[in-house]
Amino acid sequence: MSESQAVLTRDHYCGEINESLLGLEVTIMGWVQHRRDHGGLVFLDMRDRSGLVQTVFNPQEDEETHRKSHDVRSEYVLALRGSVRRRPPDMVNPKLPTGAVEIFIRELTVLNEAKTPPFPVEDEVQASENVRLKHRFIDLRRPKIQALFRLRHQIARLTRSYFEENGFWEVETPVLTKSTPEGARDFLVPARLSPGRFYALPQSPQLFKQLLMMSGFDRYYQVVKCFRDEDLRADRQPEFTQVDLELSFASQEEIMLLLEGYARLLFREILGVDLPDPLPRLTYGEALLKYGTDRPDLRYGLEIREASAIFANSEARVFKEPLESGGVARVLNAPGAGSLLSRKQLDDLVALAVSLGAKGLAWIRVSAEGWQGPIAKFLSEAEKKDLTLQVGVAPGDILFFGADRASVVAPVLGQIRQKLAELLGLLEGPLEPRLLWVTDFPMFDYSAEEKRYVATHHPFTAPRESDLEFLESAPEKVLSQAYDLVLNGNEIGGGSVRVHRPEIQTRIFRALGLSETEITSKFGFFLEALAYGAPPHGGCAFGLDRLAALLAGASSIREVIAFPKTQKGTCPLTDAPSPVDARQLSELSLAAPRTPKPPQAPPSST
Ligand code: AMO
Ligand code: AMP
Repeated sequence: MSESQAVLTRDHYCGEINESLLGLEVTIMGWVQHRRDHGGLVFLDMRDRSGLVQTVFNPQEDEETHRKSHDVRSEYVLALRGSVRRRPPDMVNPKLPTGAVEIFIRELTVLNEAKTPPFPVEDEVQASENVRLKHRFIDLRRPKIQALFRLRHQIARLTRSYFEENGFWEVETPVLTKSTPEGARDFLVPARLSPGRFYALPQSPQLFKQLLMMSGFDRYYQVVKCFRDEDLRADRQPEFTQVDLELSFASQEEIMLLLEGYARLLFREILGVDLPDPLPRLTYGEALLKYGTDRPDLRYGLEIREASAIFANSEARVFKEPLESGGVARVLNAPGAGSLLSRKQLDDLVALAVSLGAKGLAWIRVSAEGWQGPIAKFLSEAEKKDLTLQVGVAPGDILFFGADRASVVAPVLGQIRQKLAELLGLLEGPLEPRLLWVTDFPMFDYSAEEKRYVATHHPFTAPRESDLEFLESAPEKVLSQAYDLVLNGNEIGGGSVRVHRPEIQTRIFRALGLSETEITSKFGFFLEALAYGAPPHGGCAFGLDRLAALLAGASSIREVIAFPKTQKGTCPLTDAPSPVDARQLSELSLAAPRTPKPPQAPPSST
């Protein structure tokens, strides 16, 4: 078949054809989903972005067109013209919005032929992710996937309208820039005109958005690509999109309320859910104690409780040694779970705790007959009574104990809590989304690997005024004016009030172990800008991919990115990253390894 010119003009989308058009002539264009030959009649299901419609070819209608319909195959691109008719009653398909009608076709133009696709364009396909990504242009034709991109588009549209209405200007910031410390590795781009020098792709527009505040722009936002060369997981990609924003002369409270308004709009418009007003808040300290993580999933209970006071005089080895050496004892009660967990599941939970660095995971089954489990006999009656009253223990419950340094107990019990929710089926069924703020993060974390303090959020975050005095003497005590927005156990956004005084910014760089030379070479321009009248300011960035994936109920952010990278950071479609010519390298003053190495697998992936 030769390339044919479209002589028809589209006047309807496939999904729009319904009973309101009965008797009318319509022209549709799209892809052949299915072809069925019923002897005399041929049926083609036609698909475009809007949906499917059934078309019928009858030799009595137009013999030439009917003959042509025999030559088309799945995924051919056609222009079709015909009249809309009611389907016979027994042929009505109530599952399809167009299911009451069909189009009797009189004209068919083949706009393009198609090879047989490697997998059918249907919602459920068996193909591996690699095959799907290699043919992503076909994968993206699947209606279920197109719905994800419609949702993502809606989020972007609502984002722009919300920030526009609140007086924000959309400003673009550079992509070829200098390294911004957000904690990940940079992607570097060699600078041909400055041999031996490199641009870094931005991990976020952090420094530029702060500079825009110093320029008096007052309110900035951007839907922007960010780049981080880190090990990839289901919720991380090397390039991802942030809804990034910054505003001047606003307090932490004002910023958080403005951001809540944005979240409320998205949840109402996309999910039809009215979020509580105001959103719940937890400090970092509370979150770690009660849920063992700074991004708790509040869709289920299973709260962790402090039990150090209860076991202060315990003779049980499990508690005695950790408490005597300054550790903590904490308990997690799984109400009613005593009869639901098998011995094997309990052993697996203990093994999980040990694999996470705990010395063990003591547990007790509480029943009307008594308390049973590896440490039951070591508990005194007074301890049992205190646990019963303070933790609300009842027959049928099962208690899990952790005793160690708080930095070990919290994350271990946090993971046990998550695993228990899974084992007990607490995540099944339709659950209300649970959004909350986590605030009062520590300013610094000590990195044993780097043997220095690193910024928990980033170094431009303002410490709490009252903690400034500890910047040099006890950095670990300093809390920051940072806040994260957490949805169902996922961090979807994070921000802070920023430092706007150059001397405090310099003290923070020093606390991070930067030398005076490093401070000047890395951040001299920024400190200089702070010295010319920087307004108080703060902001936030949301992970748009994460938001879209969570709002859509997708299992990975790869599902809501049109052309995502695999977990090895490769693109099976374009074969990026790929080797380049020796000439290109020499122009960049670079030398390549003689044989490029195959992509490295990440150490762990989920
Ligand atoms: P942060 O580093 O917390 O803050 O990033 C903000 C949000 O971006 C999302 N995110 C990612 N999404 C997909 N893949 C990744 N690799 C990835 N990394 C981060 C997360 C996260 O909450 N400049 C600051 C913001 C600020 O202070 O205003 C920043 O980038 O959802
Ligand atoms: P052991 O005395 O080492 O046999 O431990 C008795 C029980 O306590 C076992 O079930 C261990 O898993 C558990 N266990 C041991 N050390 C700890 C600890 N530090 N925190 C919580 N449970 C522990």
